[in-house]
Amino acid sequence: MMKSVGFIGWRGMVGSVLLDRMKEEKDFNNIIPIFFSTSQIGSTVPNINSSFINKVLYDAFDISLLQEQDIILTCQGTNYTKKIYDKLRSSGWEGYWIDSSSYLRTRNDSCIVLDPVNYDLIINKINEGFKTFVGGNCTVSLMLLALGGLFNDKLIEWISVATYQAASGAGSKHMFELLKQMNFLSKYIDLDLKNDLSSNILSIDRKVTNLINSDRLPKNNFKVPLVGSLIPWIDKTFSYGISKEEWKGQFETNKILGMDNENLFLIDGICVRISTLRCHSQYFTIKLKHDIHINDIIQIIYNHNKWVKIIPNDSESTISKLNPSVTSGTLDIPIGRIRKLNIGKKYLSAFTVGDQLLWGAAEPIRRMLNILIKQ
Ligand code: HSE
Repeated sequence: MMKSVGFIGWRGMVGSVLLDRMKEEKDFNNIIPIFFSTSQIGSTVPNINSSFINKVLYDAFDISLLQEQDIILTCQGTNYTKKIYDKLRSSGWEGYWIDSSSYLRTRNDSCIVLDPVNYDLIINKINEGFKTFVGGNCTVSLMLLALGGLFNDKLIEWISVATYQAASGAGSKHMFELLKQMNFLSKYIDLDLKNDLSSNILSIDRKVTNLINSDRLPKNNFKVPLVGSLIPWIDKTFSYGISKEEWKGQFETNKILGMDNENLFLIDGICVRISTLRCHSQYFTIKLKHDIHINDIIQIIYNHNKWVKIIPNDSESTISKLNPSVTSGTLDIPIGRIRKLNIGKKYLSAFTVGDQLLWGAAEPIRRMLNILIKQ
């Protein structure tokens, strides 16, 4: 029997990317989709080619309507999950809850999903009776897809990571704000650039620096300039000197891989916001457990999944194929700059890029939905 799937938060950025992917893959043929809203109850449902779809949007806070769903998939965010999840569970609902937000990730009865990496764990959890499946943090999912082979073969002792995270990770308002900051700058320097005299560059630079630091730069969301700058702190403070985004790296990786406390992969680093729109990049310094030949390392990474793309470690390939602009909007996980570091034979360097909204958010939960509807 086809399962009834309630969608919440499908209009937002991650939700819209999810719906597009579901249409592309014809996932709606296999479910009865029911659309909910937290704010526009009664208005029109999205344009999905399905004979089952509800006629108007249902109330996302109506417990009795939610109870009728076999599966609930929410991209609405942490506040919604906080408000409704425990209430729904304590009403006796035993359906599957799929969530893109981080709120339930730390619970013992939730499983973080990234099936190209932890399919077996997901299936075990389903068989054990787990009902709550949550998408992982974007940088963690993108790292695991890039380095999946090395994790799988237990070749990693520790990783030090530096991220270069796009505005989309902070939300659509932040993407708008980054574009507004760019627009603000360009308006003021348009004439200077038309003159295009290189002797002018230092005065243009001074002007830009003043503009970036002026109160007129739009920065309600980021609080500080991102254009022409960067922000080396992402999300709240986890504990003194450590951001929550940085803390998630080790916690979520080990939870996704089902590692126990005695066998943790050690991961730490710094998470940095940069002025790209929707691709996160990451640089890894990896300490391997053994000295493995670089060709074997590349083969292991390449063999792990069909999205990872090895970029040869030369200048031309790197600059043209290992960057956010070519990766944006694709499911590709390019990884390059792979080489042994001169600090020792067990030390490896790698750089990867991935779309924050696709593999970083929507794709793992879309695939989880498909796993559940086949159960
Ligand atoms: N927290 C991430 C970021 C987003 O701010 O880029 C997704 O997990």
